[in-house]
Amino acid sequence: MLRSHLCGELRQSHIGETVTVAGWVKKRREHGEHLAFVDLRDHSGVIQCVVDNSVDVRSEYVIAVTGKVSQRPEGTTNDSLATGQIEIKDATVKIFSAAEPPPFPLDERANEVDEMVRLKHRYLDLRRERMQKNLRVRSKINAAIRNSMVEQDFVEVETPMLMPTTPEGAREFIVPSRQKPGSFYALPQSPQLYKQLLMLGGLDRYFQLARCLRDEDLRADRQYEFIQLDLEMSFVEVDDVLDAAEKTVLDAAEAVTGVRPDEVPRITWHEAMERFGTDKPDLRFEMELVELTDVFASTEFKAFSSAGSIKGIKADGAASQWGRNKLDGLTNEAKSMGAKGLVWIKVAADGVLESPVAKFMSEGEQADLLKRFEAVEGDLLLIVADEWHTTCEVLGGVRNRLGRPPVSEGPYKYLWVVDFPLFVGTDEQGNPKPGHHAFCHPHPEDLEKLESDPLSVRAWAYDLVLNGWELGSGSIRIHDPALQKRVFTLLGISDEEAEERFGFFLNPFKFGAPPHGGFAYGIDRLAAILAGEDNIREVIAFPKPQSGIDPMTAAPTVIDDETLEELGLKVLPQLD
Ligand code: AMO
Ligand code: AMP
Repeated sequence: MLRSHLCGELRQSHIGETVTVAGWVKKRREHGEHLAFVDLRDHSGVIQCVVDNSVDVRSEYVIAVTGKVSQRPEGTTNDSLATGQIEIKDATVKIFSAAEPPPFPLDERANEVDEMVRLKHRYLDLRRERMQKNLRVRSKINAAIRNSMVEQDFVEVETPMLMPTTPEGAREFIVPSRQKPGSFYALPQSPQLYKQLLMLGGLDRYFQLARCLRDEDLRADRQYEFIQLDLEMSFVEVDDVLDAAEKTVLDAAEAVTGVRPDEVPRITWHEAMERFGTDKPDLRFEMELVELTDVFASTEFKAFSSAGSIKGIKADGAASQWGRNKLDGLTNEAKSMGAKGLVWIKVAADGVLESPVAKFMSEGEQADLLKRFEAVEGDLLLIVADEWHTTCEVLGGVRNRLGRPPVSEGPYKYLWVVDFPLFVGTDEQGNPKPGHHAFCHPHPEDLEKLESDPLSVRAWAYDLVLNGWELGSGSIRIHDPALQKRVFTLLGISDEEAEERFGFFLNPFKFGAPPHGGFAYGIDRLAAILAGEDNIREVIAFPKPQSGIDPMTAAPTVIDDETLEELGLKVLPQLD
């Protein structure tokens, strides 16, 4: 080893020992005529070294320092630093690498630097305490998840990165084939089909820290490439999958925070929509939706009288913070979420309602409204009337807008949402669209409605939510080819098309398929929240910025004509 200790591990108990530490020069300060202070940094922390000022080292030089650990003189100690009581004295320095001044300061000040600059020099950004901590949090999560899976008898299996295209919804990344010019592989959106085939292969319990690729617009919680904990189990029901997946998440959270979260509550999708107006409720704040349809059952107010569902939310004591302009802005936001309008009411003294539409409400309705909301003076009430789904969804959006803290802010609130609808809406041909994917098992209680009322059919499908982010999804799968065919028919996929698109996946089910189900959750998302970050880029060593263009490597780049020809490709002229 080129060092005897890490910078950050030295303490007063080392006083008198001669040590060698190595790392990067954080700062150099002249000290009198003959000496200089060098703050030396490695991943563990910083130690102050006292060197002869003839030593020529500057910021970010990579050096080793050998010297005696000594007590700092009185008045020069630094209580905010773990090594602040000591220094390395009479130090000799060995220079490994000189360094040019870094393009941005490698401390907290870098948080204010343009992210593109950080990403262009990510190797420098990674030297910072924040990134060191985040990548180590992530590594801890990975280790805890692996342990948890192995402990539960799951088998780790790697599945191919080069595969045929699959029907999972997102746009795929395509890889041209050299051996078969004009043909293409797809990179996996997830190992979904392979993991189900592993169940047909008798593996019983599979897991993988699986790299997935999706060509979608990048956001705080989305990258082109991300890692899932992907798992699949045979001979199980919904609760078995939830239990196994939940254990891995709680094990990982405990490994990072030192505190085991409580058992995760489970609610149905319908309840989530009714109470929170979203399938990923943020349970860190209340402001639940209040049912008002019956209050306005015989109202004269036009906007309410023809609506199937009327609900509202109450912002406690918020009336004075919402002036006319802000409320108009909120109304426009509600409209952009699909509402026809947004009724606002400020509760004044003696239960008087201040609202442009109060005059359309009878005295009885006003009294019932106050009672239902349990509203008091100073409260702001917001009401939407529409068909059930829109009413819920818009109020869910307004609720988040009013109350939702940044995702990483504590406390951590996990939630299972179960019994998702099997289908969501219809496509241009009028066929129902899969809520999750085409292989989810319908809820057996709803099987008889599959053809007659498909949009009301629940699936054996579930999501895990953390602080309002979808952490993961899964389902029990269809293992009966006849049922799979019924679902395909509903989706408007003919036998021929099914055979052509995923025959390789469906035909194996003729040879004996166990009942099975699984789940996958995003490790980037879990790591971000547990590391106290609101963007998954902060827990990924080399992420892509929103443009998808990597400022460090300049990828994606053009390729030469010879390579194109070998792949049987021709690039069209680019207009820009
Ligand atoms: P799903 O498509 O819901 O399910 O993905 C599961 C989880 O993966 C994470 N995730 C992402 N993370 C970062 N960037 C992205 N672009 C991105 N897309 C998804 C999310 C998400 O909840 N095969 C199914 C699982 C199953 O049915 O077993 C699947 O992939 O945290
Ligand atoms: P209008 O009669 O369209 O001018 O609407 C009167 C008020 O009711 C406005 O504040 C609208 O934003 C609101 N409003 C109209 N339609 C709805 C609706 N479906 N749900 C909630 N508020 C509505």
